[in-house]
Amino acid sequence: MTDVEPGVLELGLPDPVRDPELPARVRIHEVGPRDGLQNEAALVPVEVKAEFIARLAAAGLDTVEATSFVHPKWVPQLADAEELMPRLAGLTERHPGLRLPVLVPNERGLDRALAHHAGEVAVFASATETFARRNLNRSADEAMEMFRPVVERAGEAGLPVRGYLSMCFGDPWEGRVPAEQVVRHGVRLLEMGCAELSLGDTIGVATPGQVTALLAAFTAAGVPVGQLAVHFHDTYGQALANTLAALRAGVTVVDASAGGLGGCPYAKSATGNLATEDLVWMLHGLGIETGVDLPALAATSGWMAGQLGRPSPSRTLRALLGTSGPSA
Ligand code: HMG
Ligand code: MG
Repeated sequence: MTDVEPGVLELGLPDPVRDPELPARVRIHEVGPRDGLQNEAALVPVEVKAEFIARLAAAGLDTVEATSFVHPKWVPQLADAEELMPRLAGLTERHPGLRLPVLVPNERGLDRALAHHAGEVAVFASATETFARRNLNRSADEAMEMFRPVVERAGEAGLPVRGYLSMCFGDPWEGRVPAEQVVRHGVRLLEMGCAELSLGDTIGVATPGQVTALLAAFTAAGVPVGQLAVHFHDTYGQALANTLAALRAGVTVVDASAGGLGGCPYAKSATGNLATEDLVWMLHGLGIETGVDLPALAATSGWMAGQLGRPSPSRTLRALLGTSGPSA
């Protein structure tokens, strides 16, 4: 384990300034162990994944997406989901309220998740046809039908279900994605029984005006903003600005990945997610509570960068660690 060098964090945040139009608290949905590690060329040992998740929970993240029960040939990086789950068993006792959702694409995935005592699952749809075929091997409609029994059975088992919708702001094959198309698919996930809908900018092309417009389109369709979360990848450096636009529209759940790990193996040009450190720096600066201990999070991401042998793209993490390379 690597600690942050003494003195490096002494600068701290400037005085927080509250904006009364922004929420007082934001729940960060940490996706580093899933969205991050699914896109790493190197296979990370299962013990390292378990330690990563334990350290994220200890740093105060109360929702940590742990892994995926997808086909192991489609995402070999997460093929060890069955080995990982038992290693996480004690964590929820140590951290009451900790949520460890897992991705499931179909009933086979749900069976595997239930057999390993997952407490929460997520299905993942696409707003575009091309990505549905590339990511799920079926049309967008067929994918919805694949999710329906998953959501139903998870509900019967008492598990909350999150619905992801990808390519909400642009698609590398289809280009522009009309807001009506995004809303239509998103509403279907909610009507199916998903408790929360996470709007994904899978390839990180969105800009803030588009975020405001899409959220307004959901509101106009009767979707309460409290059911929406945002999931920004940071390809064009817009993720923080987009997050601020979403907060102004009333969103209080934001996805991020420790150290900015991430991407999607089936979406060309997808890079890492919004880095959790960058998000926390902004939120704490705005006086918004997250429950996250930023030095502990930075130490964890620095340690993970060392495990992966590559520097983190997070500006905040680099500044906090006083380095441009991984900490070993
Ligand atoms: P398929 O090949 O069409 O599957 O893949 P199938 O239903 O035809 O079944 C074929 C075989 O696979 C069968 O085995 C099944 O049992 C088996 P056989 O009977 O032939 O021996 N199988 C499975 N085995 C283990 N676990 C399973 C499973 N399902 C079937 N769950 C499938 C369809 C959906 C499974 C495949 O396309 C898949 O696994 N895709 C996952 C892709 C993925 O994980 N992408 C990354 C996550 S999405 C993302 O990152 C975006 C997000 O972050 C938001 C954003 O940024 O926008 C969420
Ligand atoms: Mg993603």
